[in-house]
Amino acid sequence: MSHYVELSNLTKIYDTPKGPAVIVRDFNLTIAKGEFVTLIGHSGCGKSTVLSMLAGLNPISGGGIVLAGRELVGPGPDRGMVFQSPSLLPWLTAYENVMLGVDQVFYTADPEERRDIAEYYLTVVGLGDAMHKKPGELSQGMRQRVGIARAFALKPKMLLLDEPFGMLDSLTRYELQAVLLELWRKNQMTALMVTHDVDEALYLSDRVVCMTNGPEAEVGEIVSVHFPRPRDRKAVMEHPDYYPLRERLIEFLEVHAHRGLSRGEAGGPPGHPGNGSPRPSPKAELLLNPA
Ligand SMILES: Nc1ncnc2c1ncn2[C@@H]1O[C@H](COP(=O)(O)OP(=O)(O)OP(=O)(O)O)[C@@H](O)[C@H]1O
Ligand SMILES: [Mg+2]
Repeated sequence: MSHYVELSNLTKIYDTPKGPAVIVRDFNLTIAKGEFVTLIGHSGCGKSTVLSMLAGLNPISGGGIVLAGRELVGPGPDRGMVFQSPSLLPWLTAYENVMLGVDQVFYTADPEERRDIAEYYLTVVGLGDAMHKKPGELSQGMRQRVGIARAFALKPKMLLLDEPFGMLDSLTRYELQAVLLELWRKNQMTALMVTHDVDEALYLSDRVVCMTNGPEAEVGEIVSVHFPRPRDRKAVMEHPDYYPLRERLIEFLEVHAHRGLSRGEAGGPPGHPGNGSPRPSPKAELLLNPA
């Protein structure tokens, strides 16, 4: 598979009152065109930091990022972001919020074409009847639908999602996961998504990247997920590999939680395990290939 996205020795050092803090060090990851990759790891390990550097919203301290053969410098419409809450302008309708970006990115298209793009994506995410409402008149799930429509409407090369469903009830979350998968498949988009939810990661992704605990977080393990697509949630959960994969991810998170704790107790130096907690082999790639 060709490398469409390349994160090479990506490093982030924040200046803090206590001096420089190395949050992410030598984070290496390649993503193929059209791949759906999720990023999991403990709270505070640096997932959003990696995503925001990829979005060009957070300056890189070391290493580099290449997207479609080009070194990234700053933000651009080639990357679409979906956050936990979609920061819509409250005085504009859902449609107008989507049109803001569409007008900027497709300024050469005629107004009718631009309107069609916004209406199409708002309809696909299920807002056909509510697109002329303002955010204050929409539920949280509906606002998140606007956020998804807005990101896809700009036809970015890559979609970056930071816990997009984290604040939704499970029913709405399931529904929007399916909407996202369908849009991703139809648009042949490349996606990197941060999530805390291992079931969500397994349902959506081709690979799950497990990040080690910070400071100096890096890629710990990469787990490949080969459930057939298009995916049906029930079939995925009944697949014989589902629970072994789920266990593997949970085990990774547990081992790293203990590592963090023991480091704290032992007061050891950052980036080193404290007192003999097992550390999974770094950068091991687990490939479970269902027959
Ligand atoms: N601007 C900043 N200045 C200093 N430290 C920061 C800054 N932004 C983030 N950090 C620190 O970097 C670490 C990683 O933060 P980040 O938001 O990337 O974590 P995360 O993995 O996304 O966590 P969560 O799962 O809770 O969203 C944290 O310890 C955080 O305090
Ligand atoms: Mg985060």
